[in-house]
Amino acid sequence: MPELAYINGQFCSIEQAMVPLEDRGYQFGDAVYEVIVSYNGCLFCLEEHLIRLERSMQELLFPPISLEMIRNAICDLFDRANLARAEIYLQISRGVAPRKHAFMNTKDFQFVMTIRRIEEKLTTLREKGAAAITLEDFRWGRCDIKTVQLLPNVLAKQKALDAGAFDAIFVTKEGVVREATSSNIFIVIDGRLITHPLTPNILSGITRLVIIDICKDLSIPVEEQFYSTDDMYLSNEVFLTGTTTEVLPVVHIDKNRIGDGKVGPVSKKLYQELRGRIEG
Ligand code: PDD
Repeated sequence: MPELAYINGQFCSIEQAMVPLEDRGYQFGDAVYEVIVSYNGCLFCLEEHLIRLERSMQELLFPPISLEMIRNAICDLFDRANLARAEIYLQISRGVAPRKHAFMNTKDFQFVMTIRRIEEKLTTLREKGAAAITLEDFRWGRCDIKTVQLLPNVLAKQKALDAGAFDAIFVTKEGVVREATSSNIFIVIDGRLITHPLTPNILSGITRLVIIDICKDLSIPVEEQFYSTDDMYLSNEVFLTGTTTEVLPVVHIDKNRIGDGKVGPVSKKLYQELRGRIEG
């Protein structure tokens, strides 16, 4: 079944899809996005992604855009592609206009999507655990808004790969651990979980919220607290959460082995529980 693109109500192949040169998303990064995946023919947490998308658009002062229209377009694309395990990338820019910083006189927003099949690539990494590096956070101060301005994330991810690691973890100058390039991060200390609180410096991940909810069901304590790189290095377990990473254990960070260097029981259990919710 086909991988497809969607541009403002029209469907075509991804190769044929074009956006205008003066799309503000292209020239200014003036656009928001979401990544939504499906399992067994069902979109996971669609409503949560729509709510976050609406908030991102409000924070960037976009004119109101109907969530129902967006939901219908997503479902239409998903139905047409008929891919059981798929990733939808959705981007809405403020629109097209001659290049001027101020956003007066912008024509209608641009709504584009792609749907592609997912190949499960992280299975081995999930069993063995990943390596990560830390980097000083050099992103802007509104990482809670899911904008397409991802150049720091792109550079950080590449730096991690070049260093032989899977991902980079953004930390402050003072050593406070924030999040990874496209995932949130949790540490486990003596059976309790700690993760950065929701502030403008991290994205409110949907998977992060699902994991916190699962922990509530399992009576696993979760603290949304600031913690340091030293806390992380000395913790029993570390794992990333995200729509594409799901729950991904990290067993090596910078020069430090985490715990005994093997995937720990809490990460394993939470991955199984997440899969259980997805299947459910
Ligand atoms: N990224 N933090 C950042 C910086 C992210 O970009 C993402 C998601 C997350 C996790 O959020 P969620 O659980 O809602 O996927 C945290 C997407 C997947 C991406 O950019 O591809």
